[in-house]
Amino acid sequence: MNILVTGGLGYIGSHLVSKLIDKKFSIFIIDNLNNSKRSTYKILKKINPNIKGFKKIDLKNKKKLLNYFKKKKIDIVIHMAGLKSVSESYSNVKKYYNNNILGFVNLIETMQKSKIQKLIFSSSASVYAPKISSAIKEDDQLQINSIYGFTKKTIEDIIFLKSKSLRLNYIILRYFNPAGCHQNGLLGENPKGTPNNLYPYIGDIIKKRRKYLKVYGNDYKTKDGTGARDYIHIDDLVDTHLKSLQRLFKYKNIQEVFNVGCGKSITVKAVINSFKKFCNFKIKFKYYPRRYGDLDKIYTNNNKAKKILQWRPEKNLKDIALSTFKYYNK
Ligand code: NAD
Ligand code: UD1
Repeated sequence: MNILVTGGLGYIGSHLVSKLIDKKFSIFIIDNLNNSKRSTYKILKKINPNIKGFKKIDLKNKKKLLNYFKKKKIDIVIHMAGLKSVSESYSNVKKYYNNNILGFVNLIETMQKSKIQKLIFSSSASVYAPKISSAIKEDDQLQINSIYGFTKKTIEDIIFLKSKSLRLNYIILRYFNPAGCHQNGLLGENPKGTPNNLYPYIGDIIKKRRKYLKVYGNDYKTKDGTGARDYIHIDDLVDTHLKSLQRLFKYKNIQEVFNVGCGKSITVKAVINSFKKFCNFKIKFKYYPRRYGDLDKIYTNNNKAKKILQWRPEKNLKDIALSTFKYYNK
């Protein structure tokens, strides 16, 4: 089975590719290296010498995309390529529309021309209306909270609309907060520039690039006042793609959406403490004002994924802390 992973050299993509090759799938990767490095491909090749190939292609370049698809026999596309910074999406709206939305339109039109009818799409919890009192379910209200979230919701809408005319079989995975690194310590999250997200920022502290963590807010309605999120280990997240692949190949007419998270809300303080407890690493921190747009708490109800995908998260905060520490402490 030939699988194309767009954005396959990024944080999530590289972990997924590594796992898929372990499982003997035949993998093609395209990525424009906007937020990833060619060296990641070298690492993937070192871990899995059987890897088929990486091609630097920007989804905005439809001609190149079409030529690529003509040369390859692809059975399914896992679409992970995209820009993902909420703050940057406000300051550079056009860039986000062009990259995420037009890039996807090019991809789906190319898939149509090449008669590829199976798709897994990396969506995000950012498509939901804020809800802090209980866990989010797939049929909860959707809302546009940012330009980034708008691009994710628009891609979902295009998938819903096009699925009938294209006879598309799809699974949309709405990730909560992916975290942690590969157990071999070679793959991890390595964004270009200053990290926005909690774990890569902590990574910079482990690497001694930064002295302390700015904890955004200590007066949230959570156990200890710091913001709470649903951190899911990258291995567990990757497994939902394996389960999705199995489902798309086993059954016809699959058109489904799943939330992917560990199902618990974990505070920033709990994350800080986990590094002390499991890695004996003390993270220095200072409280700062709340970050614009942040919520007290957001976590998922993951029963749908558990029931239908026959999946359950196996890892916890300890595994996330240990693998993160191993990767950044090289
Ligand atoms: P990432 O930035 O590490 O990986 C995305 C990859 O896509 C990068 O390698 C980048 O170079 C590539 N890319 C971007 N635009 C492209 C284009 N036009 N053509 C070709 N390649 C392009 O991000 P990630 O954390 O691995 O996220 C993967 C996907 O999951 C993204 O779509 C993101 O929106 C989504 N997601 C991520 C999170 C998270 O917290 N990491 C949460 C929810 C959803
Ligand atoms: C952020 C985005 C979200 C996006 C997700 C993944 C915002 C408002 N939300 O989510 O839309 O889908 O990234 O790209 O940008 N924190 C600190 N100090 C830091 C970094 C984070 O205290 O240096 C706190 C935050 O306030 C939050 C928690 O850590 O409480 C997690 O933050 P982050 O990793 O950025 O994830 P989200 O806020 O869930």
